[in-house]
Amino acid sequence: MTNPPVTSLPVIHTSDLTKVYAGTDVTAVDGLNLTVYQGEIFGLLGPNGAGKTTTAGMLTTRVLPSAGSAFVAGIDVVAQPNLTKQFIGVVSQVNTLDRQLSVWENLYFHGRLFGMGAIESREVASELLETFQLTRWAKASVYALSGGMAQRLMVARAIFHRPAVLFLDEPTAGLDPQSRLALWEIMKQLNADGQTILLTTHYMEEAEQLCHRVAIMDHGKLLALDTPTNLKHSTGIDTIVTVKATGDLNELGRALALLDGASSVRAVERGVELHVAGGERLLTRVIAAAEGVGAQVQDVSVAEPSLETVFIRLTGRELRD
Ligand SMILES: Nc1ncnc2c1ncn2[C@@H]1O[C@H](COP(=O)(O)OP(=O)(O)OP(=O)(O)O)[C@@H](O)[C@H]1O
Ligand SMILES: [Mg+2]
Repeated sequence: MTNPPVTSLPVIHTSDLTKVYAGTDVTAVDGLNLTVYQGEIFGLLGPNGAGKTTTAGMLTTRVLPSAGSAFVAGIDVVAQPNLTKQFIGVVSQVNTLDRQLSVWENLYFHGRLFGMGAIESREVASELLETFQLTRWAKASVYALSGGMAQRLMVARAIFHRPAVLFLDEPTAGLDPQSRLALWEIMKQLNADGQTILLTTHYMEEAEQLCHRVAIMDHGKLLALDTPTNLKHSTGIDTIVTVKATGDLNELGRALALLDGASSVRAVERGVELHVAGGERLLTRVIAAAEGVGAQVQDVSVAEPSLETVFIRLTGRELRD
């Protein structure tokens, strides 16, 4: 992802941004400090309830912060919500298309709502339908769209007025793999054309594939923030070995933990997962250790660390449980 370069111009800036929903004692977002730069695809990665939607909600003026501040395109979102809305495009986690309107009208009236003239709105609506491969559906009811098409239409609508930043809240959740890939391509293309994007997701592959930088969140708190590559390096692990075996798995875990370079071991379904730095003769050593405790090895697989690994090391839990 080189074109165009990520700049050093902040588009989003938060300072101790906090949300406690009225009537609850849950701090949904807890003292969040982050800056997103123009040209970035920035990811908020975290499990259910991490506070991703609440963060996006505060930045898009839908949720009022309890404390702290947030600026989008240099505008204080709390002091000037209406002005902020002119500079943002939002695709929320739920379908917000207007069911009374056709596919084309959903775009056209968005332009009019943002103060564009009729001629320009017509032009842009038709162009966007073309770009997002929805021209065939222009006159159709939005009820006729598949999940992937509806999502594409929401993205088209969100960028209609050329926002400084596009917010995508779990844009590929629930989509089939093909629609997910199509949307990834759209995000990459929009970004290559200069669109800054804030993306929330609980799919680590999505964050890894698309984002220049990723903030890992859990329980409202920022746990780590860096490029996917740096986050993975920060684990200090080169290899993840999963050993599926029968026999005493606790014993197997203890034996594997003693291997050179092993940094953590945890139980997984029918086996043990081992994190290792330095992978020389690793498989031979793993199998010897397993045989040493009388475990019957059924399968050994190796993988590189992923953002899931980073999350596990930060929280002791899996991202998607
Ligand atoms: N309107 C609300 N009123 C009260 N509590 C809320 C509200 N919205 C969210 N919460 C709580 O705030 C916390 C953060 O929720 P949020 O929806 O921001 O998480 P998320 O990371 O977007 O999760 P998901 O992956 O499920 O979309 C959760 O504990 C949630 O139950
Ligand atoms: Mg959410």
